[in-house]
Amino acid sequence: MVSRLTLGTAQLGLDYGINNKIGKPQKKKALDILEFAFTNNIRSFDTASVYGDSETILGDFLRNKEHSSCYITSKLGPLAKNEIHHSNLEQEIFQRIQTSLTNLKIECIDNYLIHDFQDIALYDELIPILIKAKSSGLIKSIGVSVYTPQEAEKIIEITEVDTIQIPLSILDQRFLKNSLLKRLKERGFTIFSRSVFLQGLVFMDVNNLPPNLTSANKYLTKLNQLAQENSTNLSKLALGFVNSIEEIDSIIIGVDSVLQLKQNIEDFKSLDIFPFDTSIFANIDENIIDPRKW
Ligand SMILES: NC(=O)c1ccc[n+]([C@@H]2O[C@H](COP(=O)([O-])OP(=O)(O)OC[C@H]3O[C@@H](n4cnc5c(N)ncnc54)[C@H](OP(=O)(O)O)[C@@H]3O)[C@@H](O)[C@H]2O)c1
Repeated sequence: MVSRLTLGTAQLGLDYGINNKIGKPQKKKALDILEFAFTNNIRSFDTASVYGDSETILGDFLRNKEHSSCYITSKLGPLAKNEIHHSNLEQEIFQRIQTSLTNLKIECIDNYLIHDFQDIALYDELIPILIKAKSSGLIKSIGVSVYTPQEAEKIIEITEVDTIQIPLSILDQRFLKNSLLKRLKERGFTIFSRSVFLQGLVFMDVNNLPPNLTSANKYLTKLNQLAQENSTNLSKLALGFVNSIEEIDSIIIGVDSVLQLKQNIEDFKSLDIFPFDTSIFANIDENIIDPRKW
């Protein structure tokens, strides 16, 4: 069962995030974060083979848990970028799934995503191989992580894909256009959203933005104003916005510390209906909202 919040674990395996001043947490602290999430009923965890030692840390945490009490998403790292040849593809993918299972110390990955959308077009055999892995019981569902609505439009057509992970935030409303989310839901996808805090950009001091993101200043200033005028905070605004979108099954959040997680859980628990007009943030330039362009 997917919980309403999913804990993202890139932060636990890598020095991750635009505003990250402390680097990745020590292993003991990472395990404390996972335990704190579990105790507070966050039972869904998102990792990937390319997130440093995130899978192994999550596996050490899962060692003392019933796997059935958690929902684990991991991802197939890029294929074409690693020059994997078609003739080796099946063996390579099965080997990678096996490595992830060993790292995670579980028998089956609940949700296995294609991490690099480009691989779908470059390898016709990719989806059939994942179907085989699903029939073998190594993975329970097949998903894709996308960055743009155009990519999601292509995934809608692929009937064998069960889940999709999209970027969505108060500053990134691209997926709300053209009834895309509604159509994804009608097609039956389990939908995960990520980037609720845009890697931490939402919390950044507007006077201290990196040179390539100074154009975000006016939006962050408006966001801070909105929070102040309504006696709320940035975390509640960001979480409240995504939580108000009914098509989303689970909101992925990233944190570097128990303190941040505690704050986010408290804020999440106290959310009410989301009454704010956010149309001023509806059309922000992709250079600001797509972290690949930073
Ligand atoms: N292609 C993909 O599949 C893909 C891509 C990206 C992410 N992901 C997944 O999504 C997860 C989340 O990553 P994201 O980029 O979406 O991050 P996010 O949740 O938008 O932002 C997380 C960052 O916000 C800051 N933060 C969180 N709570 C805070 C609080 N209460 N106060 C102040 N700052 C706070 C922290 O950064 P600082 O403390 O460093 O400022 C934290 O690392 C990842 O772990 C990964 O699992 C997947």
